[in-house]
Amino acid sequence: MGKTILITGGAGFIGSHVVREFVYNYPSYKIINLDALTYAGNLENLTDIQNADNYEFVKADITDQNKINRIFEQYKPDGVIHLAAESHVDRSITDPTAFVMTNVIGTVNLLNAAKELWKDNFEGKLFHHVSTDEVYGTLGDNGLFTEETAYDPHSPYSASKASSDHFVRAYHDTYGLPIVLTNCSNNYGPNHFPEKLIPLCIHNILNNKPLPIYGDGKFTRDWLFVKDHARAIDLVFHKGQIGASYNVGGFNEWQNIDLVKELCKQMDQKLNRTPGTSAQLITFVKDRPGHDLRYAIDATKINKELGYQPSVTFEEGLSITIDWFLSNKEWLEHVTSGDYQKYYDKQYNKSN
Ligand code: NAD
Ligand code: DAU
Repeated sequence: MGKTILITGGAGFIGSHVVREFVYNYPSYKIINLDALTYAGNLENLTDIQNADNYEFVKADITDQNKINRIFEQYKPDGVIHLAAESHVDRSITDPTAFVMTNVIGTVNLLNAAKELWKDNFEGKLFHHVSTDEVYGTLGDNGLFTEETAYDPHSPYSASKASSDHFVRAYHDTYGLPIVLTNCSNNYGPNHFPEKLIPLCIHNILNNKPLPIYGDGKFTRDWLFVKDHARAIDLVFHKGQIGASYNVGGFNEWQNIDLVKELCKQMDQKLNRTPGTSAQLITFVKDRPGHDLRYAIDATKINKELGYQPSVTFEEGLSITIDWFLSNKEWLEHVTSGDYQKYYDKQYNKSN
């Protein structure tokens, strides 16, 4: 008898890849995708699997405890993979409360519903919380985040994710709820919403618009291809130790300015432009307040315990990503019209 797995945030960037991974890999499972379809949620991310027998979409807001309870009673999930979140640091600086509501209250609502449904027998049940390396704060020039690094969040986004991680562990320690956490580095790939650095620059190169680089561009991130993150979630969900956390990353650090130059180089080749054309769009703008200098994940634990390693190099992953955006201009147009344009004007007109 197959399991029922409820995936939250499955219409978003990473969630859609996780939903697809599970729908394809586990035909005997029933996959329920619960998503509120905020500006970041898009069912166009899932058109290839929308009619699959083992897939169902449910529109719901995780801040609504009564509705979440009813959905848990109706579908009786054996497992939850929780990705729904407000995910953009810049938006958290202008509207922190939205991040508390979804990332903290929403997570607690899901924990309550799982605890209530599973209270008579936790055997075979699992709440997998998908979190971020940003909870660890910032690194200097050296060192890596391990699972033992103390939490030290700086943005309202990372503070809300850190809080949600603490609640997940508290429900394990207090009530015995079976949980597991993954803390991943920066993702990139198909379906990435163009408010984030890489898809924003792809979109702007296509439209000959400035590529806004915050501060001096020397801020460093550790990039992982989104499908490799989805594979890591699959692995940890099925084989991770209950109560444990796993850092997920690709040992792939890039300073923002170098990454954008690599992107410009690949875009010029793919668009048959003279080398150096796109790099002329690079524009240094006002820095992000509280900007973390460097993130870098030590992914030794997931590698040693579960044999995990990324499947593509950054150059390969970036090439696949650009090709996807070039072949999906309609998707890009849909997500960059309307509310996106208002957000963009507000965010970048103040710093340019
Ligand atoms: P995203 O913003 O692309 O998608 C978030 C999804 O959650 C959307 O489909 C949205 O509709 C949904 N959602 C938002 N608020 C909701 C609510 N109140 N109720 C129900 N659904 C709601 O985010 P993403 O980049 O795919 O990130 C997914 C998860 O992974 C997040 O928890 C994020 O913190 C974490 N994460 C992201 C990255 C990254 O690089 N993007 C890295 C590590 C961890
Ligand atoms: O580390 C994991 C996190 O990665 C996730 O938890 C977040 O959900 C995800 O959004 C991402 O956060 P970042 O803030 O690192 O991603 P973003 O793409 O917004 O920015 C990447 C870097 O690029 C960061 O140093 C800020 C910089 N930047 C970003 C934008 C949008 C620019 O220089 N210019 C820009 O216009």
